[in-house]
Amino acid sequence: MHKGIVGRAAGTVPGYNYSPALRNAKIIWTEQNLDKWLNNPQELIPGTKMFYEVKNAQDRADIIAFLKERAR
Ligand code: HEM
Repeated sequence: MHKGIVGRAAGTVPGYNYSPALRNAKIIWTEQNLDKWLNNPQELIPGTKMFYEVKNAQDRADIIAFLKERAR
């Protein structure tokens, strides 16, 4: 479901039951925002229901590079 995530608006996959926090977040998934999100979702978007954190910066960079590779 994260195919094409880089560059798209947060909380906009049709039919997914987002938290109000993410649904109402007016952010675009840039590389910078994805890095903040993966490090600490609750800090970027307080009230989100994603709690998974990737604390290693290289791991975050690798994940974001992978997400960018996936065609829209
Ligand atoms: C490297 C792994 C992961 C990546 C790259 C990732 C990335 C993301 C992104 C970008 C979103 C926002 C989606 C959107 O705007 O449409 C999201 C949402 C979410 N993720 Fe993750 N995620 C990861 C792992 C996980 C894990 C392991 C869990 C659960 C254990 C999880 C639970 C969620 C939930 C529940 C949401 C919806 C949050 C909300 O509605 O507030 N994620 N994730």
